[in-house]
Amino acid sequence: PETGSLSIIVLGASGDLAKKKTFPALFNLYRQGFLPADEICIFGYARTKISDDELRNRLHGFLVKEKDASPEQLQDVSKFLHLIKYVSGSYDSENDFHLLDKKISEHESSTNSAEGSSRRLFYLALPPSIYPSVCKMIKTCCMNKSDLGGWTRVVVEKPFGKDLESAEQLSTQIGELFEEPQIYRIDHYLGKELVQNMLVLRFANRLFLPLWNRDNIANVQIVSKEDFGTEGRGGYFDQYGIIRDIIQNHLLQIFCLVAMEKPVSLNPEHIRDEKVKVLQSVLPLKDDDVVLGQYEGYRDDSTVPDHSNTPTFATVILRVHNERWEGVPFILKAGKALNSRKADIRVQFKDVPGDIFKCKKQGRNEFVIRLQPSEAMYMKLTVKQPGLEMSTVQSELDLSYRQRYQGVTIPEAYERLILDTIKGDQQHFVRRDELKASWEIFTPLLHSIDKGEFKSIPYQPGTRGPAEADELLLEKAGYVQTHGYIWIPPTL
Ligand code: BG6
Repeated sequence: PETGSLSIIVLGASGDLAKKKTFPALFNLYRQGFLPADEICIFGYARTKISDDELRNRLHGFLVKEKDASPEQLQDVSKFLHLIKYVSGSYDSENDFHLLDKKISEHESSTNSAEGSSRRLFYLALPPSIYPSVCKMIKTCCMNKSDLGGWTRVVVEKPFGKDLESAEQLSTQIGELFEEPQIYRIDHYLGKELVQNMLVLRFANRLFLPLWNRDNIANVQIVSKEDFGTEGRGGYFDQYGIIRDIIQNHLLQIFCLVAMEKPVSLNPEHIRDEKVKVLQSVLPLKDDDVVLGQYEGYRDDSTVPDHSNTPTFATVILRVHNERWEGVPFILKAGKALNSRKADIRVQFKDVPGDIFKCKKQGRNEFVIRLQPSEAMYMKLTVKQPGLEMSTVQSELDLSYRQRYQGVTIPEAYERLILDTIKGDQQHFVRRDELKASWEIFTPLLHSIDKGEFKSIPYQPGTRGPAEADELLLEKAGYVQTHGYIWIPPTL
């Protein structure tokens, strides 16, 4: 591993993302020994004029719940907070960024041994509209200057633009300042345990290799359901909608991992090459393959315009034009204010040809990967009903993580991904051409929604979303619903 000083600069330090995700992830990494106190300094940067201690006080409650914490935990929090310094400044002032650079350099000269390199990680927990100006400031004032090696990297988070054109414009602006290996575009779904497991499952198991294609698979669903609305962030959400918020990034990334060909190796570039290829094989979306919804009450939010047509729910069928997948619908579905909170991947297999058990009505084989909550994988299959009679029933082979891996803590997505940025591993980050290909798929649909040509159907909060979406699955995606069977996660 690299040694020498490591400076992590969180820009937008007092914002929601930084407080809720970035700092807690850094704290977890610190506790596990990944951020050695003799190398690291964390800088919070924002416009508000506050002291180091004020920032530390603001962060405290996000790192630990005081009343449940042990004295050791509280001590860890306090040691961690002392690694954080605050710098206040604006996002377009060279003077302020020079000051930031000075503070980083001071830290570097106090930690660096003769052979130490200087590593600078800039985490932009900021609205994308200011990425270009902030990147310019970093490039002009704050790059690593050590002769002893090291690097400067920037971490950015969606939304990367609103459509193909704006995303490309943003990519070009950042691309003029930094090389692709310096840019880490985070999609936190790529940090989830079972998303990271996808390639292993697919390519390390003989069981799946011969089945994973159009000869055996009838359809695939990738679903994110949330049981809460856009509370508190209606203003942001209304500009984007569910497709830009979840489908074009999180669900499409999962789609890539489910549908891509086997990469030449685990080299991040080889993996990302395959993701780009499968995205490029997606056929243009057809209006008939899309259902949009908006929950009733969404517009009551004072920050949402009264006549907003922004979808809070969408089901979109992707059709892939390649040898492996032609004719297999990939259904991407996401919604807010639905009846439950869960995210899963559901691979439904075709019926058994020449069925002698007449078990068709019991439902098809399905392989389900439950990303959250309670990570699990289960395979729905038909077995003989235990007992004297020769009848069949649906059951499952179940790998529930909490039961199978007792005592193992599954890391938070951000924790894993930030560690990757320090290690310089871009496998779980979105490459520029991948981003472009993903916008190419959705931009025509997004434009027709923005122009009001494609309407969102109202649905009741707390339901499955518009009934039309279920009809679409049954009628146009060949999905066969299983009746009379529900998977019940095992209790310990
Ligand atoms: C974010 C979206 O990217 O992901 C939110 O902007 C959404 O709208 C969130 O709620 C879901 O993330 P998770 O990890 O809770 O499934």
